[in-house]
Amino acid sequence: MAEPLRVALAGLGTVGAGVVRLLDANAELIARRAGRRIEIVAVSARDRARDRGIDLARFRWTDDSAALARDDGVDVVAELVGGADGPALTLARATLGAGKSLVTANKAMLAHHGLELAGLAEAQGVALKFEAAVAGGVPVVKGLREGAAANAIARVYGVLNGTCNYILSTMESTGREFADVLAEAQALGYAEADPAFDIDGVDAAHKLAILASLAFGSRPAFGDVAVDGIRHVLAADIAEAAALGHRVRLVGVAEADGPRHEPRLFQRVHAHLVPVDHPLAHVTGALNAVVVEGDFVGRLLFQGAGAGAGPTASAVVADLIDVARGEFGPPYAMPAASLAAMPPADAGERRGRAYLRFAVADRVGVLAEIAAAMRDAGVSIESLIQRGPSSDLGADGAVLIAIVTHEGPERCVAAALERLRGSPSLVGRPLWMPILG
Ligand code: NDP
Ligand code: HSE
Repeated sequence: MAEPLRVALAGLGTVGAGVVRLLDANAELIARRAGRRIEIVAVSARDRARDRGIDLARFRWTDDSAALARDDGVDVVAELVGGADGPALTLARATLGAGKSLVTANKAMLAHHGLELAGLAEAQGVALKFEAAVAGGVPVVKGLREGAAANAIARVYGVLNGTCNYILSTMESTGREFADVLAEAQALGYAEADPAFDIDGVDAAHKLAILASLAFGSRPAFGDVAVDGIRHVLAADIAEAAALGHRVRLVGVAEADGPRHEPRLFQRVHAHLVPVDHPLAHVTGALNAVVVEGDFVGRLLFQGAGAGAGPTASAVVADLIDVARGEFGPPYAMPAASLAAMPPADAGERRGRAYLRFAVADRVGVLAEIAAAMRDAGVSIESLIQRGPSSDLGADGAVLIAIVTHEGPERCVAAALERLRGSPSLVGRPLWMPILG
């Protein structure tokens, strides 16, 4: 058997400790599959004294994670610290710059600096692998890079954040409100260090930017992703969605748009109404699911645990196995220099049905005001319902009005909401959710 692959782990939190446990548990099997042993030789974290429930005495310890890149006894570094910049980026640059391969779960860093890091890895002839960065344990990066590599991709979309999905599906099954469920998701280890990244859609947008690049051969363009999260989704919205035969999911969508000779890229993360017969409606808890639509393969569905120690470690170690086998190519499936700069598509031109929810003062003329705004903006109403007063709407006596629109351009819905902005009839901001077509 060949020499072992010597691994340094930076970060021993949820994911890093999971990697140690997995390599301990499956060492023999992995060695047979990889053709050599995969051995952790050095580790780094902030607090050496912290009890992580794993034996660390057998590994070299360093407080300075960047030192791992300079360690001659290390072949590959696994960066499991997190954060777009700071120590993670310093370590990534140093590792690749030193001609060592890098495995990372850090979608924030890749969304912001992926192009630079891919160029560096290619120049050095080493691997940059990031299966764990998108959808945790679900092998969708491999699916796009390898399995679907022969296809022109029309659309990639899915449930990309386990924390949000846990919150939305728990709100759905229990009727509890958002804030009540958030703390539970954090305690389960799904949430980012700053949970605002999860609930405001930023984490899903990081992942979407990576998927879009792999799917469309475009430069990662996180700045072009339109992002909205789930803070404003009420249990009442979830109940209305259910009455309409839908479930609420935070969905990231990336789609090639515009003429063939001048393609544009649409990228958005937003809460959607998903029909109950759509596979994404059945993605519950911290599960993730990604749909890839290829011109020859058709529709592919990747689904599984999108977060948590075990599933994420599974993806990190899969990448280490590829490095051990010497199986890697350009990180984004084609050389970084040939990734295209695709201009963003105009969301206003997109057509679809939408769910609109208003919390309003229950007085004469309010409904007419909303209907007039729709009429004046050219929005056709498919259905409308008004419910009785509810204390969850933010003001005494406020009532909920839920509207479903006919299919039409999004710019018309935006114009209708603009007409209503600041209206004294409204309590809080209206909620708009596209209906997944
Ligand atoms: P944690 O917060 O649990 O762990 C982070 C680790 O990094 C800790 O061990 C911490 O040390 C260490 N660390 C922080 N700063 C430094 C530093 N300057 N030098 C060395 N080590 C440092 O994060 P997770 O394990 O949850 O996430 C790690 C990465 O994996 C992130 O990029 C995240 O986005 C990604 N990811 C996470 C998933 C999950 O389910 N949790 C799923 C998919 C991806 P100490 O323990 O001493 O404080
Ligand atoms: N915070 C992320 C989530 C972890 O909830 O999906 C997995 O990337």
